[in-house]
Amino acid sequence: MKILFATSEAHPLIKTGGLADVSGSLPNAYAHLKQKVRLIMPAYGDVMEKLDHVKEVADLTVGACDRQLHARILKAKVAGIDVPVWLVDIPELFKRSGNPYMAADGEDWWDNGERFGVFAKVVAEVAMNRAGLDWQPDWVHANDWQTGLVPALLSEEVAPPRTLFTIHNMAYAGLFPKSLFDSLWLPWHWWGLQGVEFHGHLSMLKAGIVMADWVSTVSPSYAREITFPEYAYGLEGVLLQREREGRLLGILNGIDTTVWNPATDPLIKRHYSVEKGRVAAKKVNKAAMLDFWDLPKDVLESEAPVIGLVGRLVAQKGIDLVLEVLPELLEQTDARFVIVGSGERHFEYALNELAHHYPDRVMVYIGYSEKLAHRVEAGADLFLMPSRFEPCGLNQLYSLAYGTLPVVHATGGLADTVVNATDENLAEGKATGFVFFDPSRHALKSTLMHALYLYGRKRTWQKLQKTAMQQDYSWEKSAQKYLQLFQSVPE
Ligand code: ADP
Ligand code: GLC
Repeated sequence: MKILFATSEAHPLIKTGGLADVSGSLPNAYAHLKQKVRLIMPAYGDVMEKLDHVKEVADLTVGACDRQLHARILKAKVAGIDVPVWLVDIPELFKRSGNPYMAADGEDWWDNGERFGVFAKVVAEVAMNRAGLDWQPDWVHANDWQTGLVPALLSEEVAPPRTLFTIHNMAYAGLFPKSLFDSLWLPWHWWGLQGVEFHGHLSMLKAGIVMADWVSTVSPSYAREITFPEYAYGLEGVLLQREREGRLLGILNGIDTTVWNPATDPLIKRHYSVEKGRVAAKKVNKAAMLDFWDLPKDVLESEAPVIGLVGRLVAQKGIDLVLEVLPELLEQTDARFVIVGSGERHFEYALNELAHHYPDRVMVYIGYSEKLAHRVEAGADLFLMPSRFEPCGLNQLYSLAYGTLPVVHATGGLADTVVNATDENLAEGKATGFVFFDPSRHALKSTLMHALYLYGRKRTWQKLQKTAMQQDYSWEKSAQKYLQLFQSVPE
């Protein structure tokens, strides 16, 4: 099977969140299952700076926005990505540094619609084997709104490859004015309720949903949730339709165990595993994590529990709930908090304020740090993920692997992957973390209080840690499920 995997970010080249983790590892999993894969993404400024050797393998011209744009396809070999990477090089659209979607002022690039519309056109040309690459995929696996037009464009072709469109997050719809639809010269009959139109705008997400052969999302629970208005932002109707056609799947993400593994992780201080022991190593890792904030020795050596959080500081992640419960927990327990993230300014500000008031109880790093993210996974005792919705979530999977017990709201992939420490689940040896069912401060607080109580019962805690670390969320099982789809659909 030949698979063209289209994405707008991939670790280790460029990353804003979990999509990059998936794009940097699912193609590898396909390749390990003997599939022939090419990853295609834009040649952003920061990506080009990371690469020493790229080779031009094709060039083509695409029309959009009253001009003809010249695109080069560059081929790169990237350490950590086991399949050839094709970079779509259009300097006027992609040669910009920093975040792939936003300018330095935190605002979306004014021309994102053109950028990803043109990217999709190039991917479609490549997928039709018209770019001179002499490679015809059987399937195109497109991801999120940035590639939503790819399945749509292919649906107009004679004998196109099959298309799978994976939704990683319904909150980002890729909405643009009708004028962009016109200037991308898209087929006029797409405009309408059954097509790409969403309340007078072009929705690139909707294009992928309605025009791909198959649609998937990144957990079984989220696949159900997005057929309801609370989760689908107005697209529940088309999703329900795809579900009724039997063409909406939920396949859980996996984790890249070459990057996220406490037994080999080069970014943590002391390696550990279930077999070789973890208690002493986690203590060393806790001190190493806290040391980033130059804390006094007694804090570094303290037995007090540390609750970690790493993530985008946006409403999705339930940061408002964290801010509400934090002061009470600081008063009523001896827990410490370590928070690493960036996002909405008001959350950043409020967290910095707390850190200022509680200098050795609340440690905050506003920004992006790969190293700290790994150190928190290895060094914290509990990992907080009170997301209001969560398509899959990778951090809770990393937390399980690192024996850092996740505290999660029962939604999407969080509900599918964490087993609550109820008496019954504990007795059966199944529990792996803490789950609350109502996204309220009371539920979060009482769940954290329960977790902190169990932290004091060392044998129970260690059993929980061990069960968590023994869970297998590597890619193999999930990649097999995608392949089952690819192989089950006749030519
Ligand atoms: P989402 O994709 O919604 O952001 P996920 O849990 O799927 O959520 O994935 C988030 C990924 O981004 C994880 O690999 C996490 O470690 C990483 N990440 C998020 N924020 C930061 C940060 N500030 N520094 C380092 N890594 C981060
Ligand atoms: C999105 C979701 C997250 C998911 C990730 C990768 O950003 O918010 O839940 O894990 O994509 O699929």
